Amino acid sequence: MLTAKITPSMMCADLLHLGETIRTFEENRVPYLHMDVMDGSFVPNFMLGTDTIRQIRRASSIPLDIHLMIEDPGDKLEWFEPQKGEYISVHAETTRHLQRVLARIRSLGAKPMAAVNPATPLSMVEEVFPDVDAILVMTVNPGYAGQKLVPQTLEKIKRLRTLLDERGFPEVEIEVDGNVTLENALKMRAAGANIFVAGTSLIFRPGRMEDHIRQFYEQVR
Ligand code: DX5
Ligand code: ZN
Repeated sequence: MLTAKITPSMMCADLLHLGETIRTFEENRVPYLHMDVMDGSFVPNFMLGTDTIRQIRRASSIPLDIHLMIEDPGDKLEWFEPQKGEYISVHAETTRHLQRVLARIRSLGAKPMAAVNPATPLSMVEEVFPDVDAILVMTVNPGYAGQKLVPQTLEKIKRLRTLLDERGFPEVEIEVDGNVTLENALKMRAAGANIFVAGTSLIFRPGRMEDHIRQFYEQVR
């Protein structure tokens, strides 16, 4: 079973205390920082531009997990200066040439991830299993924090894990994004996910972030 990893959704962080937040994450073994990039077209919101990503990359030793919720990502990859060891996820719904975009991400040295919205069938990504390090299953409709889990996505995670294992891709990871409460994380883990985007439902809920992180690692084995 692939190692469980928590990746805090930085769109939910207190942007006025970002330095302290990143220090806390560095001290608590957080392996990735999830950067939601939104263009106001693919999703009904704007979020985290290229300068913010550049600044956070400079301020942190933790690799980024950049979630591109933007139209035509293929033309814009270089805007985000992908670094070795970073995940770059692009939505299957946003490009006619998904395999080409994922291959380009890999050629830039980053780790390609293909993302699907709740209503998007897994058939949209099953031809690119050889081209990805991970598949991102949206468990809410992207655009805003604080939403509720789309319940049928739990079964979708399970189906994807089975498909990946049966097709000979057991090392391809599954990232889940949206309303990842501790309770939902346990269900998502049981369904086969191993990378958990932690937003207002988990790390950024009231209380100490370090307590939420420790509790996550204690419970989500
Ligand atoms: C949704 C965002 C996620 C997430 C935020 O578009 O991509 O980062 O929903 O976390 P929650 O759902 O816990 O507020
Ligand atoms: Zn995201």
